[in-house]
Amino acid sequence: MPKKVLLSVDTGIDDAIGLLIALKTLDVIGVTTTFGNTTVENATRNTLGVLHLAGADSVPVAQGAKRPLVGEPPPPSSIHGPRGLGDISLPISSKALCPLPAPLFIYEKLKTASTHITFISLGPLTNLALALKLFPSVACMIDEVVIMGGSTTYGNVSPVAEFNIYADPESAQIIFRSGCQIRICGLNVTRNVSLSASQLNMLSKSTSPVIQTVYKLLAYRKTKLKDLLGIESLSLHDPTAVLSCVEPEKFSFERLHVDVELRGQLTRGMIVYDIRPGTYSSEPSLFRPKHAPNAFVAMTADVDGLATSIVTILQSYE
Ligand code: RIB
Ligand code: CA
Repeated sequence: MPKKVLLSVDTGIDDAIGLLIALKTLDVIGVTTTFGNTTVENATRNTLGVLHLAGADSVPVAQGAKRPLVGEPPPPSSIHGPRGLGDISLPISSKALCPLPAPLFIYEKLKTASTHITFISLGPLTNLALALKLFPSVACMIDEVVIMGGSTTYGNVSPVAEFNIYADPESAQIIFRSGCQIRICGLNVTRNVSLSASQLNMLSKSTSPVIQTVYKLLAYRKTKLKDLLGIESLSLHDPTAVLSCVEPEKFSFERLHVDVELRGQLTRGMIVYDIRPGTYSSEPSLFRPKHAPNAFVAMTADVDGLATSIVTILQSYE
């Protein structure tokens, strides 16, 4: 039985592919959208377009945050193109967007679900943070929060911060301190997940409209990452985070305490991972972790195995 999940996305090229993978491997009971890679309005339209392309118009979508809890949204990234999906604009169905705001939608979905739900966040964490603020019982209704965010090595928007956490660190702090079970899949793993030239070539030859679209999105991403940042890897962040929930055996995780820096002059938005040796103790001690672990953090992954999984799952689209 696939896990029942709610997704939050800022669709976004890698979100779009993450969503397509989730639709084939998980039981997606709803999607919320947020600002991030683009405006929330674009993210919503892109999400509806991806669902329509995948024949999944029945999956409800609720629009979410336009901005973070504090401050303004970061400027949209040119890596994702002017509206978020490269140079593509996907048709959407006439299906109406769910009228509930995202935090209420999350609460309603959790309340009416017959089982605990996994929440997968592929963008800034604002929607879930607002749901937790409004309805604290949400923490007990979630099986696990799977987060694409952070990095145990270096960041992307700053030397130490990753985009999704940096875009709304106050929301990340609410989630890290909520008592929810957390699984973090950060840049240290996701930036190394790419497709080979022959895998891309294979996708390019497909006659499936879904795979043709994915190929166009990946080709756009490849050019932008190379031209703007000099990066060769496709850095499939969001599909990798989805797979950390589907194929956890392809990752090594460490159980750690995590929190987020809100004030640092150079470090705002950085996840602080307590990787010190020594077990946590409530006894006062300078040199040991002072908090019990609250997250499983992905440290390494079988990146070739994940690339194969991504291609195989995408190829199941007719
Ligand atoms: O830092 C990578 C993350 O930021 C991905 O989720 C990407 O889609 C953007 O949201
Ligand atoms: Ca994203």
